[in-house]
Amino acid sequence: MTKKLLRWRLLTFHRAPQDGSDTDSYCYHEDAGLLICDGIIKDSGPFDSILAKAPDVSVTDHRPYLMMAGFIDTHIHFPQVQVIASWGSQLLDWLNNYTFPEETRFACESHSERMAQAFFDQLIAHGTTSAVAYCSVHKTSADAFFSEATRRNMRMLGGKVLMDRDAPAELRDTPQEGYDETKALISEWHGKGRNGYVISPRFAITSTPEQMQMAMALANEHPDCHIQTHLSENKDEIAFTKALYPQAQDYLDVYQSYGLLRNNTLLGHAIHLEPREIDALADTGAHPVFCPTSNFFLGSGLFNHHKLNARGILNGIATDVGAGTSYSMLQTLNEGYKVLQLQGQSLHPLQAFDWATRGNAQVLGLEDKIGTLAVGTEADVVILNSSATSAMALRMERAESLAEELFVLQIMGDDRAIEEVYLSGVAQKVG
Ligand code: GUN
Ligand code: ZN
Repeated sequence: MTKKLLRWRLLTFHRAPQDGSDTDSYCYHEDAGLLICDGIIKDSGPFDSILAKAPDVSVTDHRPYLMMAGFIDTHIHFPQVQVIASWGSQLLDWLNNYTFPEETRFACESHSERMAQAFFDQLIAHGTTSAVAYCSVHKTSADAFFSEATRRNMRMLGGKVLMDRDAPAELRDTPQEGYDETKALISEWHGKGRNGYVISPRFAITSTPEQMQMAMALANEHPDCHIQTHLSENKDEIAFTKALYPQAQDYLDVYQSYGLLRNNTLLGHAIHLEPREIDALADTGAHPVFCPTSNFFLGSGLFNHHKLNARGILNGIATDVGAGTSYSMLQTLNEGYKVLQLQGQSLHPLQAFDWATRGNAQVLGLEDKIGTLAVGTEADVVILNSSATSAMALRMERAESLAEELFVLQIMGDDRAIEEVYLSGVAQKVG
């Protein structure tokens, strides 16, 4: 049995903070111990009391840094690591001009493997310990993704996209191929180690009704697999979708009528929603995912977080690289704060950090495994330095509370603020 005791300032959330004064929603220790055995958190609390219970264990001291559960990214595209920062267009042109040509390269096994290594390096460097990823249409890309996740022992979710129209021929499967390859990938990877498979019809525009039917069959045959797709990101996309599915009441109804909405469904963007769509989200328990840097970058629109929350809908938050402009969940929270500001809504730093950790784990139904530093959960941990740059250090001279420190990290932080990352209790080389 491998045992280690980590010492630092510890912050973990039990539930979503109602506001900045909701001190019962989290646990914070100035001098904490976290005891890890075989990758699982066995104990935590004031350092001296943990040490007294495990006196022989080796101690790693990370003070004065701040430790919390690793970040969780609930929507990211693995084949887009070389698409990020592509100039000048909104969603449909951006897909056709940059993204689809790039994704054709993932038919090649060695390219997929090289990009998988680069992708996971970026996640870890930015403090992200779990993510939900779209792979390309090629089975090779999903194999490379899961092989690399397995090698690094990361809890990762992902799936090959299903897309059989409105894309270059090299990026199209057929309904039968998409079904067969998804089945093969599920049997190879789902539930193996820390991997989870996500059934991934890319979006309504790139799937025929026949393929949606196959996606429904996959969803019914695998209720424990997550489902992911895109919803109402861009007005031209919505108009095109309605033209392709004229019988649907609205965009969401395309997915709903094929039985794709349930409480382990993730719907990227969900910006321009009609009242019926909001009702359907609330009824089915499906989760919108807010992608602020992407929504700014593509000029897509403003995600109405509070309106959805008020209906009891649980939203995820995510980078959406490569339309998203940073792998950093800190930068994602920064831009998320601004999107909400533009709508007169607030995002307190306690709520922000809960969202990127425990909140996203709850959205994924994985709160018993990741997202907190609770005893019995997997030891995926990030160590944050709130004075990582000289500008941050200057600002920190005037910070007087934990909330102020968190806000400095949220607004000014990025990969430079990540001091260390542990995956299943194993320290990674960061930077
Ligand atoms: N809609 C369908 N595919 C994509 C994608 O790759 N990125 C974004 N932002 N939206 C999409
Ligand atoms: Zn996306």
